[in-house]
Amino acid sequence: MKSLPMRIAKWSLLALAVVAVLGLAIAPFSRSLIEQWSRSDVVARSRLVYNSIQYPVVRAIADGQLNRLDSIFEGVALDERILAVGLCNDAGELVKPTRLMPKTFSCEKVARSESESFSSIINDGRRILVGAFPIVERNHRDYLIVLHDLSFIDARSGEVQAFVVAALVAITVVIAGIAAIFVVLMLRGWMRSLRFAVEEARSGGQTSAAPRAKTLVDNQIQKLLHDIEIDRMPISTGQVDWSPKALQELLHNLLPGAEVLILSNREPYIHNRESTGIAVQTPASGLVSALEPVIRACGGTWIAHGSGNADRETVDADDRIAVPPDEPAYTLRRVWITDEEQDGYYYGLANEGLWPLCHIAFVRPQFREADWQAYEAINERFAEAVAQEARTEDPIVLVQDYHFALAPRLIRQRLPKATIITFWHIPWPNAETFGICPWKEKIIDGLLGSTILGFHTQFHCNNFFETVDRFVESRIDREHATVTVGGHETMVRPYPISIEWPPKALAGQPSVEACHVEVRRSLGLPADVKLAVGIERFDYTKGVLDRMRAVDTLLTREPQWKEKFVFLQVAAPTRSKLATYQSLQSEAVALADEINARHGSATWRPVELIIRHHESAEVFKLFRAADICIVSSLHDGMNLVAKEFVSSRDDEAGVLVLSSFTGASRELSEALIVNPYDAEDMASAVGIALRMPDQEQRERMRLMRQQVRESNVYRWAGRMLIDAARSRQRRHILDIAEQNQRQDFEGA
Ligand code: F6P
Repeated sequence: MKSLPMRIAKWSLLALAVVAVLGLAIAPFSRSLIEQWSRSDVVARSRLVYNSIQYPVVRAIADGQLNRLDSIFEGVALDERILAVGLCNDAGELVKPTRLMPKTFSCEKVARSESESFSSIINDGRRILVGAFPIVERNHRDYLIVLHDLSFIDARSGEVQAFVVAALVAITVVIAGIAAIFVVLMLRGWMRSLRFAVEEARSGGQTSAAPRAKTLVDNQIQKLLHDIEIDRMPISTGQVDWSPKALQELLHNLLPGAEVLILSNREPYIHNRESTGIAVQTPASGLVSALEPVIRACGGTWIAHGSGNADRETVDADDRIAVPPDEPAYTLRRVWITDEEQDGYYYGLANEGLWPLCHIAFVRPQFREADWQAYEAINERFAEAVAQEARTEDPIVLVQDYHFALAPRLIRQRLPKATIITFWHIPWPNAETFGICPWKEKIIDGLLGSTILGFHTQFHCNNFFETVDRFVESRIDREHATVTVGGHETMVRPYPISIEWPPKALAGQPSVEACHVEVRRSLGLPADVKLAVGIERFDYTKGVLDRMRAVDTLLTREPQWKEKFVFLQVAAPTRSKLATYQSLQSEAVALADEINARHGSATWRPVELIIRHHESAEVFKLFRAADICIVSSLHDGMNLVAKEFVSSRDDEAGVLVLSSFTGASRELSEALIVNPYDAEDMASAVGIALRMPDQEQRERMRLMRQQVRESNVYRWAGRMLIDAARSRQRRHILDIAEQNQRQDFEGA
């Protein structure tokens, strides 16, 4: 890149070089010019001498009184340029030479022509011009000889050369001086422009100097920033075959040596003491099932709440443990939270406040000051743990979910150079809804400490922009999807989360036929019964009651399914301390009993409700055994159960009934999309699913499997890391520009 001052300096140097070359070329030319001038001057003088003494000399010769020549010649020789004068007579003898006539001079060296002649001789290293002027008297032809010392020509041309050199040096100095002054002035303006540009780039154009910067900024800086702007545009990741290896290569190539840290509330492995000893459990968490394969691929440290009753026994002195237990690939760092803190931070603010606030499930959010204080304190503690675990000053920190809205800002304060990617796993509501949160500004500010803030869908990004716009003084750039507050820019992008492909839980699974038989046998069901499953955490956002009601409606409308169809709901207890969750469980149990009483018989119960945690291998076996999977969330950021069901069906059979209020419904459009609030609609969908021909099932399932395979969790992580790499590159360029600016100002 060449700036204007650089170009001025370059042209000035070029001009100086041209002047120097001209000087060298002029020097010999000036010497010969001066030689010519001086010589003709001397010739003219000789003629003058001759003309002025011609008459008295002729008279002296004519009178035969050569003695008179002494005084005439001596008088002439007084001229400082005339070395000597004499007369060469007709016999070629030198007569009456003046005092300084060189001893070596002889008349034989003088051309005897009829007109004046000039020749040069060397005497004692000096050049001498000899002028010979014929004087004809009677029959004699004598020559008046005038000798001029030409050494003054050398002195004169030396002087002229010295003058030319001095003049060139003076011109050079003047040009260099003017150029230097010009460059310094330009540099000052340029630096000011650069500062404005950097500030503008940082603040996203919020500085008061921004309009001026636009006119002042040098073309090259404009171009540089423009290039970076282009780089901020999303790139197509569709062509990449996303796998753990692809993700590793991406990290290696785009973020060489980068340290990866994950921060989440839920830990990927929980150690619990049971009667048989310590057992390891993997939690029912979409977040965990998405992130675990990513960190297994990348390595690093996962910082999470140690929630198991044997967690403390299994960590080392630094609260660390290598996981997965059977094949360690990364470090789990556990952070401890007291029961009281857990009540405020997790149950209170996170799950009674933010969870219902962000989900449209018509459960009123609860906001208590004590909960907020606990939430702040725990966010501080985890941010501190991130700073402790970081081995580098600029790690990539993946902050997860609504438990840690304040952590990005707190981490930024501790590790200013960190690349913080925050992912919000739940929906973001509209501004009006979010506006009821008493700490909305603090939550938004905390999140805007991130480098990148991700949501599942563009719709949630738009809600976030709207919320920021409404409650925080900021600059929102919708073209580049960024929010700038206090000079810090955060990219806000949709990254639809997904699952690993192929899923780990599929390894070692029996065939679909074997799963079909085994599951029905274990549930005491006839081998040919049609089975629909719903598998998730027991959460009121999942629409568990609504799907039961849909089953009820179906059996009422289409009683031919009695004895031939069973709906199995597997629900993992979650947040059971909270009243809303407790009442959901009891309502679900009561509703299942009610439906079974209405439609069931002594040998058949249409609704089976199993309330316990299932490990992923068990879950996959149920998926493979099912004819239908029902995902009827009232509101869900993504819902990975839907994707897991699809991934489990390598036989390409099975039907997915999917709520339109899940992020997954945007991607899995071959599912039967339903409105879970409409029991009739959902009942119809289940009926269609029960009757769906194998061929249609296969076609739908094939397309959905292709979608999940291509848009798997490695792509999710990969897209965020690509954006992180660009952000780091941009940061790096701005740092260099800032450093140069500082150095130039110090030097100027
Ligand atoms: O949906 C948001 C989410 O964080 C999921 O990623 C995860 O399945 C669940 O909530 C976690 O619930 P908890 O950790 O409270 O059991």
